[in-house]
Amino acid sequence: MPQISPTGPIQPRAAVLWHGADYNPDQWPPETLDEDVQLMRQAGVNAVSLGIFSWAQLETAPGRFDFDWMDRAFEKLWAGGVHVALATPTAAPPRWMTAAEPQVLAVSASGTRLPHGGRQRFCPTSPAYRRHVERINTALAQRYGGHPALMLWHISNEYVSNCHCPLCAEAFIGYLKQRYGDLATLNAQWWAAFWSQRFAAWEQVEPPRPAHGTVPHGLTLDWQRFRSHQMCEFFKFEAATVRAVTPEVPITTNMMGKFPGLDYAAFAEVMDVVSWDCYGSVGADPVHMAFDHSLMRGMKDNRPWLLIEQTPSATNWQEYGTLKPPGVLRLWSLQAIGHGSDSAMYFQWRRSRGASEKFHGAVVEHAAGSRARVFGEVAALGAELKQLSPIVIGTAVTPARIGILCDQESRWAFENAAGYARDKRYLGELQRHFRAVWTQNLRIDVVQHHRDWSGYDILIAPRLYMLKSGLFPREGTPEQLAARVDVAAKLAAFVERGGTLVVGCLSGIVNESDLVYEGGYPGPLRQLLGIWVEQTDCLPPSAPGSFANGMSLDRDVLALPSVSCGCDRFFDRVHLRGATAAAAYTGNWYAGEPCLTVHRHGHGEAWYIATDPEAAFLEQFYRHLAARHGLHPTIEPVAEVEVLTRRGGGREVLFILNHAPEPRSVAIAPNADAAAADAPGASTAAWHDAHTDTVWPQRLELAPLQVRIAQRRLDRTTG
Ligand code: GLA
Ligand code: ZN
Repeated sequence: MPQISPTGPIQPRAAVLWHGADYNPDQWPPETLDEDVQLMRQAGVNAVSLGIFSWAQLETAPGRFDFDWMDRAFEKLWAGGVHVALATPTAAPPRWMTAAEPQVLAVSASGTRLPHGGRQRFCPTSPAYRRHVERINTALAQRYGGHPALMLWHISNEYVSNCHCPLCAEAFIGYLKQRYGDLATLNAQWWAAFWSQRFAAWEQVEPPRPAHGTVPHGLTLDWQRFRSHQMCEFFKFEAATVRAVTPEVPITTNMMGKFPGLDYAAFAEVMDVVSWDCYGSVGADPVHMAFDHSLMRGMKDNRPWLLIEQTPSATNWQEYGTLKPPGVLRLWSLQAIGHGSDSAMYFQWRRSRGASEKFHGAVVEHAAGSRARVFGEVAALGAELKQLSPIVIGTAVTPARIGILCDQESRWAFENAAGYARDKRYLGELQRHFRAVWTQNLRIDVVQHHRDWSGYDILIAPRLYMLKSGLFPREGTPEQLAARVDVAAKLAAFVERGGTLVVGCLSGIVNESDLVYEGGYPGPLRQLLGIWVEQTDCLPPSAPGSFANGMSLDRDVLALPSVSCGCDRFFDRVHLRGATAAAAYTGNWYAGEPCLTVHRHGHGEAWYIATDPEAAFLEQFYRHLAARHGLHPTIEPVAEVEVLTRRGGGREVLFILNHAPEPRSVAIAPNADAAAADAPGASTAAWHDAHTDTVWPQRLELAPLQVRIAQRRLDRTTG
């Protein structure tokens, strides 16, 4: 595998910010290629993702390859200074294959073998499919592996996994055997005595289908796990086919942010670099993208990653095809770069004439070519990224010291659970806590349970519903075994050595098999938190701005600017067992009972928030906790202004993004005291504008949607 430095560049042969798009010259007459390369030069494009769905054009019959068009594309692109992220075309097999061997296609939950149709509908287990995949991938690697334009493998496209074929069903049983070892353990972990669900033989275990009705939740959960695992095994297989020929070329596959279907943490172990497809909605709260970028980059320790798809204008699949107003493309591209992306790439280069994506945004639209507004904005961004490359490449997001714990399996279990409320949203609550830190201009990462937590002072676990005990799987792949952690013990060790832990309600409820911890919630965290929870009340969500209950703070324990605030949705009834109450409910029949507690443990402390407090409380609370660790905002917060920093090579790069449709004024800390505290050892050197190199004034005026970027030297110890 290629060795990539933690601050990049991702590919030393293309050590610039990548600017480009998905490109399908195979959908166009050959002469379009010349025009495209010409336009790419004009647009400052230096990278394309090539051949993503091109299998039928690359292999016209079994083993009969037509590389002519791709040879020409490689040559002309390279002559035009454009690098290639070469795709394996496996997301869409050719018809000759599915006609001859329909078993390469997935079987739906109703038991029907899918006919040849759109894309992403193959069976990840099928040996026949893997044979075909190996042939085309190897052929591509052998043909283009030595081409100087090749900079990255783009493996398949947006993996999606839900095959119910007999091979997948059999593999599922094999997976369960590894996980539980024996059937008695499986029956116990799935609580299979319930509704006479006991399994007397492994063969009785079937992938759950709608016709089964309600099956043990452990089964549902393990099926979700298996689907993801099996696709990850397929990804590994694909990665191996090209790595065998081109071990030095980094590998990625494009992920989809909050996509519920896969556990990307395992996929990240296979890829050399994280990439993802970001399709924000015009007018939406920018926290969505800030959270998603943090979630995605956190999959690989916040190293530089790739924004590999975004639309230059509108999508064709969101509810309304709203165009990005002028300035939004630049704003969102630089937001991604501020969050650690080393690229701004689009879907797609040229808008197709037919089929389902003819109205999807593209750099080259149906009308006006390079005279169109979108092309002009893309070209302007291309020129700017060229100028920013030497400043940004070789840096990664400045390490954060606040992390929010996130785990896809906990999300699955929580949202599957029948109880509390029907509209439970795991990531929604994580994002609310994330937002409270992010709006304070305090750096925050989204952290996976099995990664290294040693860099964090504060860890937030708003919905730690599933608390893994580390007992399962009994056996597994290296990725599965690496993810096997005793989370309660890891949290206790974190607090012990001085960390601040914040646990939210509905945590510590079940183990990794969805079996409830007995003796009071939050199970194995009771001692660390010094409390136990008897039961949880749940009320319908209140109208915006109003709250079903209130919290009154004990200022001797927690001195925040406000003494009371609202809280909503979930209300634990908490008993103190060593912890101190920092706030009590003001309403309902449990008024006066604790709803916020703190417990010292070792050198640190563990907080428990027994309800969902209003955002204003969370902001004050996290700012207070951060200050106690010496963490202060780099720049004082201003509404809708996002502040991001990257670091590396002895410099720090600062991005100030005005997401508001109005002007904003931002104070730049003159002596950067605050910044020094936020990142110990940081420089007090002046900020120099990234474009003009002039020293920034103490106050910066930002036009609507404007982004300003600056850099400064770092002290030698921090670079
Ligand atoms: C996804 C796919 C692309 C394209 C875009 C459209 O991200 O990867 O092939 O379909 O959606 O938004
Ligand atoms: Zn299958």
